Amino acid sequence: MPGLAIVGAQWGDEGKGKVTDLLAERADAIVRFQGGNNAGHTIVRDGEEFKFHLIPSGILYSEKTCVIGNGVVVDPRILLSEIDGLKRRGVDVGNLRISANAHLIMPYHVLLDTAGELKLGKLSLGTTRRGIGPCYADKALRLGIRVQDLLDEKILRAKIRTALASKQQALRELSVQRRKLRKEAGEGDREAAGQAIGDAPDPRIDLHAMTEEHISYGHRLEPHIADTAKLCWEKLDAGKTVIFEGAQATLLDLDHGTYPFVTSSNPIAGAATVGAGVGPNDIDEVWGVAKAYATRVGAGPFPTELEDGAGRHMLERGHEYGTTTGRERRCGWMDLVALRYAVRINGMTSLAITKLDVLGGLETLRVAVRYRSREGALLDSFPYHQSILHGAVPEYEELPGFDADISGCRKLADLPSEARAYLEYIEEGAGVPIGLVGVGPGREQVITD
Ligand code: GDP
Ligand code: IMO
Ligand code: MG
Repeated sequence: MPGLAIVGAQWGDEGKGKVTDLLAERADAIVRFQGGNNAGHTIVRDGEEFKFHLIPSGILYSEKTCVIGNGVVVDPRILLSEIDGLKRRGVDVGNLRISANAHLIMPYHVLLDTAGELKLGKLSLGTTRRGIGPCYADKALRLGIRVQDLLDEKILRAKIRTALASKQQALRELSVQRRKLRKEAGEGDREAAGQAIGDAPDPRIDLHAMTEEHISYGHRLEPHIADTAKLCWEKLDAGKTVIFEGAQATLLDLDHGTYPFVTSSNPIAGAATVGAGVGPNDIDEVWGVAKAYATRVGAGPFPTELEDGAGRHMLERGHEYGTTTGRERRCGWMDLVALRYAVRINGMTSLAITKLDVLGGLETLRVAVRYRSREGALLDSFPYHQSILHGAVPEYEELPGFDADISGCRKLADLPSEARAYLEYIEEGAGVPIGLVGVGPGREQVITD
């Protein structure tokens, strides 16, 4: 398995961190290829919880190389605090490598993300407000600042100056909006106003202060900065296994997700080649990670969303609160129409089904097998047209639930027959084999046979 991509098959938070940690046992390098610190990947080892935002989920193996690829957008302040946090917990980050070509999330990107959301008002996307969209926009506009720029003060200053020039108007508007919000909230309620506008830093962005601050980040990050595309190629050429760890998920993909309610990168497997700098034939396996049900954070269509007791059951038993923002995740039934789409778009070869344990205690399980459009047409495949998707109503198959606590099961044979039948139904409906089943957050709470 020299090249293996792990991607989200739904709307994110499927358990990619845990699956990466497990499959990384057989790998030599683990590479993040897109997204930024909008991601939150959790690993639970011996009861100890780790949450990664930028650092690949292979970092707990000190002998493996972990790479932040060129396709990732890096907020250097967040990256350094993640590095410091891991060091404090005794994790060796000496093998972390950061692509010199990765783009930087600058303080003004974070502000502009908030400004964009405030401007949209009720129509806001519910972004993580980490500056992801504005940073990728600058990359496409060729106004981006890259990791390598942190190592040259003159270049860095000139690039920040150019990038800032086109943003003054938007930043001024945000500043006015913030003042208005503060006034509306009243002097005594500044904290609430602060929450409404996110935790963005002071809008007065000073070119010189920003340059100095980032040069100091550059000094600290320098030992990790490398030509990571070459590094990946060398590993693959030597027959070593490289894991490409996706963040976000298929239905949040900028091209193939539920646009505009998506992120600003391509989380699908094909993007691993661009975001890491390897060839398409270097990816031998594609693992899609899906929960045994479905969740979504932020706005946008979610056909199988539940607002009843079963949804609450998933929220509470699954602790469905965002790793990055702490927001409550929307919960719903497993959606085979969307999952089949993810299988096709990613060229998936295996499925990892996580959080099966969370469904324990539900009398009946429902699985969406097709949608019905507003006009009454039956839709077997995921609609590409936004209006059709927004009006799509799922049609369900019902399967018997299982009552037992399955968190101690380690083999398929240990599972209640209803849980096995549920998995077989998903496997058949998706058309790819299930290679791994999660029955709890712990790394040992997994079934692989
Ligand atoms: P990611 O973004 O795809 O890596 O997923 P997150 O870490 O954001 O969210 C997944 C959550 O589910 C984390 O809190 C994990 O510890 C937890 N988790 C992962 N697999 C399982 C599982 O099989 N069962 C249960 N109960 N929790 C799981
Ligand atoms: P992981 O890797 C779940 C969602 C946000 C919002 C939309 C756009 O942990 O699965 P952005 O800040 O990217 O511009 O927000 O995408 N989103 C995620 N949802 N898991 C994630 O990452 C996400 N990253 C972004 O909630 O709806
Ligand atoms: Mg997550």
